Amino acid sequence: MDNVLLCENVRFDELAETYGTPLFVTSKRSLVESSREFEEAFAALPHLTCYSVKANFNLSVIRTFAEKGYGCDVNSGGELFRALKAGVEAGKIIFAGVGKRADEIAYALDAGVLMLKVESLSELRAIDRIAGDKGVVAPVALRINPNVTAETHPYITTGDSKEKFGIDEAGLEEAFSMLRSLRHVRLVALDMHIGSQIFDPEYYVAATTVLLDIFETARSLGFSIDYLDIGGGFPVTYDARKPATPIGHFADKLVPLLAPSGVKVIFEPGRFLVANASVLLTRLLYRKRNHTGKQFFIVDAGLTELIRPALYQSHHEVLSVIRHDATVVADIVGPICESSDFFARQRTIDDAAEGELLAVMSSGAYAAVMGSNYNGRLRPAEVMVEGSEVRVIRRRETFGQLVENETP
Ligand code: LLP
Repeated sequence: MDNVLLCENVRFDELAETYGTPLFVTSKRSLVESSREFEEAFAALPHLTCYSVKANFNLSVIRTFAEKGYGCDVNSGGELFRALKAGVEAGKIIFAGVGKRADEIAYALDAGVLMLKVESLSELRAIDRIAGDKGVVAPVALRINPNVTAETHPYITTGDSKEKFGIDEAGLEEAFSMLRSLRHVRLVALDMHIGSQIFDPEYYVAATTVLLDIFETARSLGFSIDYLDIGGGFPVTYDARKPATPIGHFADKLVPLLAPSGVKVIFEPGRFLVANASVLLTRLLYRKRNHTGKQFFIVDAGLTELIRPALYQSHHEVLSVIRHDATVVADIVGPICESSDFFARQRTIDDAAEGELLAVMSSGAYAAVMGSNYNGRLRPAEVMVEGSEVRVIRRRETFGQLVENETP
């Protein structure tokens, strides 16, 4: 037993036997632990944590956080539907996104969300018009682009003025004057989100300082603001050689900075809460060696289940479910017809035999949610483990479901 990988009390080989592969396996204890760690860090600050469901929108995952009293951050009508279905109170949901359609704005207003984020002046006018048609006043947050370039992968930095997100300082005067004249919107929050997987708390300090300045300006203009939303982006460890900055270090800087404002703070963590709670379990189908001596481990999961290595060159540990003393160096690749379909390149890995199982670690955030049916792949099953209990939280797709919306 000692040499078999477990999720809580359950062996991964037994999970594969029962549910097949590829399989996402999520530890409920790990979800609960990460939320406890987050809450402990920011306990000194009056706040609401709104889980960013884009990281992992499985209903059971959302529900786990809703049961802890969390709200959530959603980025589309579909995510709003999921959050409500999972039991999140509408009054704790933030509706975000740079390109909300009119039907999505109407849906959010009908649901009674806590606020809609505004990312452009045109969108502010649209929200006012739709709220006016319904005879309601829409609570809105201004998403500020603080022009802080956080050091992370360029595809996941969002607080820089060359990016599409938020309203920059030059647009604020007009935003405030528009907010004063429009009758169906009420400014309730100022908001930012500077990126994802940010290791250095100083980027948050710089952006929050900009946000607090704007907060003072807004107050002097007569706006009474209820919330400051500083977004998500808190880092996790993917590679033991590059450990993430502990969440407490972010709190040490942010709590004293934000507390004097006297308003409630909103956090939108996604990755921090879920990344290390799930594993992508896959079977080693074939091993091959080419004439250069290079070895490949060909597994039954690919970029259709976890696209992060292909898209962001991200590192994911890959462990053999049965541990071996001997190791080899191999590329761990999937079955998809793309050269970018790999989990690891030239990785030292246990000398597992064909038919054995591998665990692609840290697959809880931006994995299943970014999955696709490319190459006619079926979306995998997902299970949640709690102690010795296993619950299927998403059934494996079927061939029938692959084509059910099509007409031959
Ligand atoms: N709030 C907003 C407005 C966001 O856009 C995001 C993520 C979050 C919160 C949560 O950020 P987190 O705490 O998870 O870093 N697919 C990429 C990450 C994209 C992040 C998009 N926005 C990846 O796999 O690294």
